[in-house]
Amino acid sequence: MNTRPLYLDHQATTPLDERVLQEMLPFLTCEYGNPSSPHMYGRIAAKAVRVARRQVADLVGATSEREIVFTSGATEADHLAIVGFALAARPTGGHIVTTVVEHKAVHAACQRLVDHHGYSVTLVGVDRHGCVRPADVAAALSPNTVLVSVMHANNEIGTLQRLAAVADITVPRGIALHTDAAQSAGWGLLDVAELGVDLASLSAHKLHGPKGIGALYIREGTRIAAQQTGGGQERGLRAGTPDVPAIVGFGAAAHLITADAVAAPSRIRALRDRLQGRLLADLPGAVVNGHPCRRLPGNLSITLPGIEAADLLERVPGVAASTGSACTSGSAEPSHVLTAIGLTRSQARATLRLSIGRTTTAEDIEHAADLITRTAHALQQTHVVSA
Ligand SMILES: Cc1ncc(COP(=O)(O)O)c(C=O)c1O
Repeated sequence: MNTRPLYLDHQATTPLDERVLQEMLPFLTCEYGNPSSPHMYGRIAAKAVRVARRQVADLVGATSEREIVFTSGATEADHLAIVGFALAARPTGGHIVTTVVEHKAVHAACQRLVDHHGYSVTLVGVDRHGCVRPADVAAALSPNTVLVSVMHANNEIGTLQRLAAVADITVPRGIALHTDAAQSAGWGLLDVAELGVDLASLSAHKLHGPKGIGALYIREGTRIAAQQTGGGQERGLRAGTPDVPAIVGFGAAAHLITADAVAAPSRIRALRDRLQGRLLADLPGAVVNGHPCRRLPGNLSITLPGIEAADLLERVPGVAASTGSACTSGSAEPSHVLTAIGLTRSQARATLRLSIGRTTTAEDIEHAADLITRTAHALQQTHVVSA
């Protein structure tokens, strides 16, 4: 009997696809060469890295694989994009526009520029669905603005931003546009040419690849100041011996998406809608967060009045989900994303993030809905009795 909880936390991380593992295995065993070495071992590793770079480039619609720089994940890519671009464009006194709902990696990178390089940062707000208004971005620009950073899809509420409309503002003014696409790339939603972005952060573990590997897409001609120097790897932009097995895995995971060899987003969206429908029907007062349609197919952020999401999850050990973003769970502070869309602190604490993925089945959804509604009713009852 399988006693492991149902995994509904795909926005925190995804399981490694078995096909990806098979591609990685030779590079974890016999193909251990350093891609910089001039002999056969090195050449085999270098070729594998070249193939993977092309696969990642194809996933995001990059014109050349030279536009992909491998990093340890989206956190590092965010830092390289924001700090690296800003310092190359203007070593001191510049201005950055970003949003209140970004991942902490973006906010932290901006803070570094404020603390050490005399930069200022303007945080643009969002509406109740978590959408940034392009006009607000335009209004926030100053003559010193060098970069605008707007995430593609939010990691808590799944809202997709209208990046092309933001690019319409930045491109004519010669301001670069960065997007944190860690959550959207796995759905095949990121096309850098179509969206007009200059820099995009990616993470393999959000798309059924391995952890500890990601990439920064850097549009040809965009200047970046390296943040980690040494042996000159990754065109001098990110020194360190490349993690070949992880890069191969990232490439393989990207290729499965490009080649349409994974569960269609429409199947996952239907499962999400079923779970959403059941919870809304069975739990009066429940409210779904995020944009009603411009939202990631697997995302369900739902506020269940009268309960503490953390209590609920503790009483439902059969479901592995999140109370907010994984990076902030465990912290007593309510999520900055949920408060940014207007939730009160208690509403934020009553919010559950269920994220559905490739391996989720229709039976899983019914089972999760049963467990969650039963426990939420019991908790609401306790709340009423003790009130
Ligand atoms: C939107 C977003 N940006 C950045 C990250 C960090 O990614 P990584 O774990 O690859 O550093 C995450 C992961 O939680 C994320 O969801």
